[in-house]
Amino acid sequence: MLTIKNLNKNFGGLQAVRNCSFEIQEGSITGLIGPNGAGKTTTFNMIAGEERPTSGRIMFEGQEISGLPTYEMFHRGIVRTFQIPHEFSKMTVLENLMVVPPEQPGESIIKNWIARGAVMRREKEIQERAEESLEFLSISHLWNQEAGNLSGGQKKLLELGRTMMADAKLVLLDEPGAGVNPTLLMKIRDMIARLRSDRGYTFCVIEHDMDMIASLCDPVIVMAEGTVLTQGNMNDIRSNPEVLEAYLGGGEVQ
Ligand SMILES: Nc1ncnc2c1ncn2[C@@H]1O[C@H](COP(=O)(O)OP(=O)(O)O)[C@@H](O)[C@H]1O
Ligand SMILES: [Mg+2]
Repeated sequence: MLTIKNLNKNFGGLQAVRNCSFEIQEGSITGLIGPNGAGKTTTFNMIAGEERPTSGRIMFEGQEISGLPTYEMFHRGIVRTFQIPHEFSKMTVLENLMVVPPEQPGESIIKNWIARGAVMRREKEIQERAEESLEFLSISHLWNQEAGNLSGGQKKLLELGRTMMADAKLVLLDEPGAGVNPTLLMKIRDMIARLRSDRGYTFCVIEHDMDMIASLCDPVIVMAEGTVLTQGNMNDIRSNPEVLEAYLGGGEVQ
């Protein structure tokens, strides 16, 4: 579904991503792990259109998408969440979801005048979809809360909810488990698995919680120093001496 080939990203003299190549198969939940500073988030930023590659190619469903802006990526079905949630803190939970779908007719004053019925129908559809998403994530009771007041874990669920409002195909999750308590972590993991089976999403997940990666992801791609060190299933990776070496001083593979 997605192929990245010889991708590079330099920040001044720093090579954050270097000659990085990998594939994400449609229908998979692919893990992306590696020590801090390995270039994982920068790779996501390039796939989602937030950063332009210095060089290299990104192909999505057979088409070159390298360097396209975020709204183009979104339009094609590539949706990402952030390591630190990007909620609209003064809006309610429901409103945060309702602003996701693009090109809403109600945003145009003219259309509001001449096609009021259509505008209202579309708005009702969007609201229903938002309510369904909240139900799916079991956070319906929070619909009217200001998003800024949610706990860290609830904000992560809201981020997942935003991916459900888009017609997502490939969802990039940047540390969905960061700052989340173990119970909620399990819930987020189950939601990801359900979104794949019920909605057909393909996922690529950056995560430091190795139990979560092991129970959710196959294959797992290991990045270190900007490039792919190895990939395979979690059992192979856990016993790979190069991987252990890469984590020394950084984190730990348990
Ligand atoms: N906008 C930026 N400007 C300069 N350096 C950056 C920028 N973004 C990331 N880096 C650097 O690139 C490297 C890779 O970072 P990142 O992709 O965030 O790694 P990871 O997500 O694997 O922890 C790090 O050395 C980081 O400091
Ligand atoms: Mg990161």
